[in-house]
Amino acid sequence: MSDHDATSATPLIETRGVSKYFGRVQALHDISMSVHAGEVMCLLGDNGAGKSTLIKIFSGVHPPDEGQLLIDGRSVRLGSPRDALQSGIATVYQDLAMIPLLSVSRNFFLGAEPTKKVGPFRRFDVSTADTITRDELRKMGISIRDTGQPVGTLSGGERQSVAIARAVYFGARVLILDEPTAALGVKEAGVVLRYIAQARARGLGVIFITHNVHHAFPIGDRFTLLNRGRSYGTFDKDAVTREELVSMMAGGEELEALGHELEEIASSDARIAPAMRQAARDVATGIDGAR
Ligand SMILES: Nc1ncnc2c1ncn2[C@@H]1O[C@H](COP(=O)(O)OP(=O)(O)O)[C@@H](O)[C@H]1O
Ligand SMILES: [Mg+2]
Repeated sequence: MSDHDATSATPLIETRGVSKYFGRVQALHDISMSVHAGEVMCLLGDNGAGKSTLIKIFSGVHPPDEGQLLIDGRSVRLGSPRDALQSGIATVYQDLAMIPLLSVSRNFFLGAEPTKKVGPFRRFDVSTADTITRDELRKMGISIRDTGQPVGTLSGGERQSVAIARAVYFGARVLILDEPTAALGVKEAGVVLRYIAQARARGLGVIFITHNVHHAFPIGDRFTLLNRGRSYGTFDKDAVTREELVSMMAGGEELEALGHELEEIASSDARIAPAMRQAARDVATGIDGAR
C-alpha cells in the first residue's frame, strides 16, 4: 500500500502525547504514533529507548500516565491485554508464549483448542487442529514438514512465523512484533521479514520493533525513532534513507554521551564548571534541534 492511502485513512491504533513513568524514571515523553491497515510501522531505538513500554500501552499491559490511546479513532482505556486482544491487537513478544515440548498445532491453538466429543469426554481434536494449522501456515507461505513435531525443534524464525500465523488466524487487525529478528541470523531474519510482508498484504497493520535499521528499512513503510523515551519523529519511507536512519540512531547516542561527559567534567572541576555546563546545554539543544 502506498503511504498516501495509509495516511489518509483513520489509523487502526494511535497514541497522542503519551507519557509513562516508572517511579521517578520517565520511560516515555509525549509520544505520538499510529499504525494504519496495510502498513508496516517500524519502531526503532536502542536498548532502553522505551520501545517495549510503548507497545505495552498498545497491548493493554500498561495504561498511559498522560495522553490518549485511540482505537479506530476513538479514545479508549484498555484494562488488560485481553481487552487489547478483543479489539484485534495481537502482540508477539520476543520470549514467545509457546511450550517447546508441545506440537506446532497444539501451540497454534494454545488456550483455544478445538475439541470433539469422545464418549462422555471432550478431547483435543488433533486432526482438525493439524489441518487448520497446516492451512494457515500455508496461507502465510510457511511450510512446516510436520505440524505434530514439537515447537522446540523449530528454528527461531519458524517459531516467530507460527506466532504470526496464529495471531492472524485468531483475527488480529494489528500485529505487534517486539524484536522478532533480534536473536536471528541474517537468513532467518529474512524469513520473518517475509511473513511481516505477508501480514501487511493481508491488510493488517504491523508494528515492527527493532534496533536494527537494516532489518527495518527493507520492510518498513514508516519509521518512528525513539531515544531515551523521546521521539525523534516519524519518517515516511520515501522521505528518508537507510543511511539517515542509521546516523540518526547513532548520532543521538553520541551527542547524549558527550553531554553526560561534559556534565561530569563540570562536577569535578568548579573552575571550568560554568563553561562545561553551558557546553552540555548546547549539546542538549543540538539534540532537540535534530528532532
Ligand atoms: N516495569 C518497569 N518498571 C520499571 N522500569 C521499567 C519497567 N519497564 C521498563 N522500565 C524502564 O523504562 C525504560 C525503557 O524500557 P523499555 O521500554 O524496555 O526499552 P526498550 O524496549 O526500548 O529496550 C528503561 O529505562 C527501563 O529500565
Ligand atoms: Mg524491549
